[in-house]
Amino acid sequence: MSTLKAWVHTLRHEARDILSVELHAMPGESLPPFEAGAHIDLHLPGGLVRSYSLANDSRERHRYLLGVLKDKASRGGSRAVHEQLRVGTVLTISAPRNHFPLHEEAGHSVLIAGGIGITPILSMARRLQALGRSFEVIDLARSRASAAFTEDLAALACPVHWHFDDEAGGPPDLRALLTARTPATGTVSDTHFYACGPAVMLDAFEKICAELGYANAHIERFAAVEVQAADDARQRFTVELRQSGKTFEVTPDTTLHQQLIALNANVPFSCEEGICGACETRVIEGTPDHRDMVLSAAEQASNQVMMVCVSGCKSERLVLDL
Ligand code: FES
Repeated sequence: MSTLKAWVHTLRHEARDILSVELHAMPGESLPPFEAGAHIDLHLPGGLVRSYSLANDSRERHRYLLGVLKDKASRGGSRAVHEQLRVGTVLTISAPRNHFPLHEEAGHSVLIAGGIGITPILSMARRLQALGRSFEVIDLARSRASAAFTEDLAALACPVHWHFDDEAGGPPDLRALLTARTPATGTVSDTHFYACGPAVMLDAFEKICAELGYANAHIERFAAVEVQAADDARQRFTVELRQSGKTFEVTPDTTLHQQLIALNANVPFSCEEGICGACETRVIEGTPDHRDMVLSAAEQASNQVMMVCVSGCKSERLVLDL
């Protein structure tokens, strides 16, 4: 995973407990291009690595804009951003990755943001507007004070449905919102629905879209859903790291993830929950038991890569390109 340096150009209070971080390239350097929906890893003080979605216009080359919620359940990442970053801090970051791509050819797109989920949604809205595509945004937050980037969204002058729980007297009726989304152009089959936000909202979104027959439903998770091991997953298997020539056993007392860390294998772990894609590793031989939320069903079925932070194995032997 390639990394580079960037420096903190601007820190801005965007909403209650939400800070935006604008990163610029080091003098004389440029930032790698990115697609709307992409995220980068920040290597934070204390050795933490955390992923954050990019909110800015994907045509920009001079900056990356992130929105970071100070999470009360923080394992240290968001707290480090809020309490330790200063203007001028130089950080190691990853190149952008995108597991939440836009289908730019869609007849219509519905972008749904829950809370800090606005970050990739805002970049997607900017992109669709630049392309002149038909789209709308649904922005859901507990209150106006806790909704980030509302001015940026309003400045796009695109159709936005705002819902603030405190003003509306309760949480949104997601089913009603989705049911009412008759496309401005085309049909439901060429309308794409995107959602980013809390797990409970995404679970409901996926369920309702399935019930409504909305096949083009896409989500980006910030928090992992625990995926159980498959019935045919092995508790004991042999792992060969082809590049480094190391071989080890995974036993009922250990996990692949733990063993890779113990061996100091060259894997850039970030979320360690199967949601960011940082630890994507090429599979040379063997059948992974995929337990991540990153790869599509087709990608998982191809068994060409796996997220080694959470996944296991269904075959006796697993050979990884490490
Ligand atoms: S470290 Fe994030 S998916 Fe593995």
